[in-house]
Amino acid sequence: MNNRIWLSLAHMGGQEQRFIQEAFDTNWVVPLGPNVDGFERDLQEFLEKDVHVVALSAGTAAIHLGLVQLGVTQGDEVICQSFTFSASANPITYQGGKPVFVGSEPDTWNMSPDFLKEAIEDRISKTGKKPKAIIPVHLYGMPARIDQIIAIANQYDIPVLEDAAEALGSEYKGQKCGTFGEFACLSFNGNKMITTSGGGALVCRTAEEAEQTKFFATQARDKAPHYEHSHIGYNYRMSNICAGIGRGQMFVLEDHIARRREINQLYRTLLRDFPSISFHTNPNSDFNSNYWLTCIIINPQEAGFTREDLRLCMEEENIETRPLWKPMHLQPVFADCPYYGDNIEGKLFDNGLCLPSGPTLTDEDIQRVVKIIEKMYH
Ligand SMILES: Cc1ncc(COP(=O)(O)O)c(C=O)c1O
Repeated sequence: MNNRIWLSLAHMGGQEQRFIQEAFDTNWVVPLGPNVDGFERDLQEFLEKDVHVVALSAGTAAIHLGLVQLGVTQGDEVICQSFTFSASANPITYQGGKPVFVGSEPDTWNMSPDFLKEAIEDRISKTGKKPKAIIPVHLYGMPARIDQIIAIANQYDIPVLEDAAEALGSEYKGQKCGTFGEFACLSFNGNKMITTSGGGALVCRTAEEAEQTKFFATQARDKAPHYEHSHIGYNYRMSNICAGIGRGQMFVLEDHIARRREINQLYRTLLRDFPSISFHTNPNSDFNSNYWLTCIIINPQEAGFTREDLRLCMEEENIETRPLWKPMHLQPVFADCPYYGDNIEGKLFDNGLCLPSGPTLTDEDIQRVVKIIEKMYH
C-alpha cells in the first residue's frame, strides 16, 4: 500500500521546541506568559495594520468573544455566511442569538453582498430590529468581497466580525484578511496555515477592546484582591506552551503560504486539459488567496463521474480528500434559521472536493493525486 497522503497536515519548522523549552526552563508552564505576549506581537506585525491581537484557546472562542463584545444576547439575530464550517455560526447560539444565513456569490464562493442587503432589509421589515452583527468568511483562504460587505454594513450601522480562520496570509487589495472588520477571528487548529496544536486569536481594533477580550477570556475577574465578578466570564486564553509552538511556527508561515500557493498552481498546470474540472480561483488581481486548500469542482455530466466517485477512488489509493463544507442552511441543526440566497453553495457542496494541500506535500504526492483523477476518465 502506498503511504497515506493527508488533506492538510501540520508542519513544524524546528524552532517550536526552543520556545517550549524556554517556557519549561523559566517555569512558565502556565496559562499566559512571555510566549503569549510574543506570539501576539508576531501576529500583529504580520498583519501589517494597527490592530491588537489576543491569543485564545480556539478560533471558535474568538468568534464567541467577538459576539459577546458586540453585545449579542438572547433573541438577537446575527447574519452569517451559509457556506462555512459550523464553528462560524455555533457561537451565535451560545449567546442565545439566532443565525440568519446568507448565500454565496459564484466567483469568491463567499457572502454575496446582494443577498446580504436583501437579508438586512427583510429582517428589519419582519422583526422591526436590525441584525446585531455580520459574519462573512474568507473560505478556503479566498477573500470575501469585504469592501462591499463593509460598505453595506456601514450603511445600516451593523458591525462586521470577519471569520479569517482559514485566511491567514490572504490579502484583499493588498490588505491582510483579518484586518477589515470590527473584530476578526484567526484559527491555529492542526490543519490551518500554522498551528499551536489547537488555538485561535481575536483581532481587535483598539487596545481597549483587546483588554476587554482578555478580561472575558480569563473568567471576567473584576479588579479586587478577592474573586469578584460582575460579568459572565470564560476560560478561553491560550497557554504559554501552545503560544511557544505558535512563535516557532511564525518562522515558517511565509513558507507555508508560498508552498500552498505553489501546490495550487501545480494542480492547475497538471489538470489544465480537463475542462470538466474547475478551480476555486482569485476572481481578479484584488484577490490574493493563500489557497489554504485547493478546491475543485467536477461537472459530473461532462466528466462522467461524481465528486463522491472520485473521493472513494482516492480513499482506495490511500489519499485523503474531503467534500466542500456542507452549507449551514442545509444542516439539520439550523433547519429553522432564515436563509437568503440561491443555493450556489449547495451546488458547490454537491460537486466540490478539497484536494491534499498541506505544506509537507511533495510534487510527487501531487502527481500521485493527479494520476487518480486522470484514471477516472478512462
Ligand atoms: C471557517 C472557520 N471558522 C472557524 C473555525 C474554528 O476554529 P477552531 O477550530 O480554532 O475553533 C474554523 C476551523 O476550525 C473554520 O474553518
